[in-house]
Amino acid sequence: MGDDPLDLLVLGSGVAGLTAAVQATERYGMSVGVLTKGALQQSTTRWAQGGVAAVLGEDPDSTDLHLADTLAAGAGLCDAEAARVLVDEGPDRVHALVALGASFDRDAEGRLELAREGGHSRARIVHAGGAATGIEIERALADAVLATAVAVHEHAFAVDLVVTDGRCRGVLAVDRHGRWRQVTARHVLLATGGAGQLFAVTTNPVEATGDGIAMALRAGAACADVEFVQFHPTALHHPRMPRPLLSEALRGHGALLRDRDGDRFVDELLPRDAVSRAMTARMADQGVDHLWLDATGLERFGERFPTIAAALGDVGLDPAADWLPIAPAAHYLCGGVVTDLRGATSVDGLWAAGEVACSGVHGANRLASNSLLEGMVFAHRVIEAIDSGADGCEPTGAMRTVVATGPRGGAEPGGPAASGEPGTIGGRRVAGWHPVRPPIGVDSIDGSPSRERVGRSSEGASEPPLDDGAVAALRDRLQRAMTLHAGVLRSATSLADASGDITEVVRALGAVGPAGTGAAAAGIGVTDAGGVGPAVEDAAGAVPSPAALEVANLAELATATLAAAAMRTESRGAHTRRDHPDTADAFRLRLVIGPDDR
Ligand code: SIN
Repeated sequence: MGDDPLDLLVLGSGVAGLTAAVQATERYGMSVGVLTKGALQQSTTRWAQGGVAAVLGEDPDSTDLHLADTLAAGAGLCDAEAARVLVDEGPDRVHALVALGASFDRDAEGRLELAREGGHSRARIVHAGGAATGIEIERALADAVLATAVAVHEHAFAVDLVVTDGRCRGVLAVDRHGRWRQVTARHVLLATGGAGQLFAVTTNPVEATGDGIAMALRAGAACADVEFVQFHPTALHHPRMPRPLLSEALRGHGALLRDRDGDRFVDELLPRDAVSRAMTARMADQGVDHLWLDATGLERFGERFPTIAAALGDVGLDPAADWLPIAPAAHYLCGGVVTDLRGATSVDGLWAAGEVACSGVHGANRLASNSLLEGMVFAHRVIEAIDSGADGCEPTGAMRTVVATGPRGGAEPGGPAASGEPGTIGGRRVAGWHPVRPPIGVDSIDGSPSRERVGRSSEGASEPPLDDGAVAALRDRLQRAMTLHAGVLRSATSLADASGDITEVVRALGAVGPAGTGAAAAGIGVTDAGGVGPAVEDAAGAVPSPAALEVANLAELATATLAAAAMRTESRGAHTRRDHPDTADAFRLRLVIGPDDR
């Protein structure tokens, strides 16, 4: 690696990051680096079961129907333009993946098998190995990346984005040897995935700690919709973590939901927010901590779903004979870093694709199997845009329609307080904002802005680092607080309880907090050193452990999520307030966490 900045630095190695890396090198000959905190194939993509929703068959399906299902699931907050892009370009991206070597399940005639899942009006989900779609996609993309000139940096933890003069120019990272590294690039793509680890009960792997969104928040990039955490209804109720997922496809094939008494209580094919809500309410009514998935009527279970059958076998369950214990588990973050239709964020040089992004396609609740699709479609768009010389965001997609309908500036009764003019957050060239600033560092979540930033602690800079046990205890405390108080059902009181716990976690983190561990705390200046630079020798601060950095990132995101959830005094999509059970027109807008203006 020479001294020149990379053309593109990709952070993360899931479907979005690897799609972008392959395309950027193979098609456009860009110099590309992939930096990931684990091994190359260690990503949430690997855990995806159901598949990829795309209209690949003939009538009676159509992209209009896929669009309608996506918008209906999104509960009034999807950006229709972005969702249209998703459904129209999805089929080509699936074909491109097949051309790259991904092998999807086919029938005896060689046609792609299409499954149906919750919220879909047609069977349109392609899958691999029954419910091992993510593994196959990750394999195909990783093989392609390894066959190209992409420089892969595994086990390197990106700590903070380097932003100077309003432009992202790379990252500061801690490498596998625990040394600071500075990586410079003309463009940086955040493809770091989601944050299921905010919760104690999740289907996400341990790596899903919201690092990209936390970095973006600290860098002042606009983030939105972080209150919409989707809970998957049918995670196996078992101590194993991440919770083994019992794919939506099982219900698509006829598996039934049963309560404590064996009764059915909800339409199994409703979008998953509705199913999770109905389950949570039924569990509360019946005083139980799980319900049942009855898949005994499914034929050829082991043949159709070999990986699920194996996971069940591991814990002594036979789907042909046993009802399967299930409970909702945190699964997907619908919001993230706001992007335009090309994946550009509000910070020049910074792009985002996949779960880390808020492209507008998911709104308040993602339609099943639209996530891998989103990663492929928008990562492709990022590279096309960079190649065409695009720089900076434009007012399209979620970037334009931050206020879908309803009040601009929040002046309407019942809506959130006004804060800022559309188009003028921190002077950035964006339009249609409805900025909400309190999420950073709130002590209370009554909506009053706080001046204290999460983890920023000048006196803490000289404190000794937390030991591994203390860091693990803080992570545990954060996850329990979020699970108990900010899960499927929320209220002002429960959110305040969670906020109190998270504030304590942030205090305990001290200098390990996000800002305290980044460039500023380490005394690292930003230089124009190119490519992957040498380890920074003169860093003043202790190098933080990845485990501590993860908890700091979780705390940053938890704080934002709780504040946005407190501010959204309505129920919509994946966000349900017991104290505000109705959907309110005044809240048909995004709560955007704007750039830090202090
Ligand atoms: C599943 O297979 O149920 C998960 C699919 C998804 O998260 O979209």
